[in-house]
Amino acid sequence: MESLAHLVKVSVPNYLSGLPIPESIGGWFRLGVRDWIALIPPSAMLAGLGYMSYKAFCPLARGPPCGRVNLSIKKDVSKVVDSVDIEDIAEKAVFCRCWRSENWPYCDGSHGRHNQEMEDNVGPLVVTKKKD
Ligand code: FES
Repeated sequence: MESLAHLVKVSVPNYLSGLPIPESIGGWFRLGVRDWIALIPPSAMLAGLGYMSYKAFCPLARGPPCGRVNLSIKKDVSKVVDSVDIEDIAEKAVFCRCWRSENWPYCDGSHGRHNQEMEDNVGPLVVTKKKD
């Protein structure tokens, strides 16, 4: 614990006070090569901390939550609901259940690529008209 206190109270402040940070904007243009090289490690550390903070606290940076099913269909609505009149179905209708179809709500075969890539086994819902 004592070494941590020494690091925080003595070592880091000494290191930071020794950095060639200019007093004015014009001073940045007068820095030499050695000065710029000395600024690389703290700059990289600051950039890393900034990136990690961005990833931790910015919801957009985290990407879609794990387990999201719908990646692209009607993302502008809060709930995707489709209805198809049973009378409009000819002999057979094939509905997508993998959420990857470009012809939503109908299956276009995209589940095959999804199944290969994700080692999944989803397939369509096939509705057929009952024959009298
Ligand atoms: S494309 Fe989605 S189930 Fe066929």
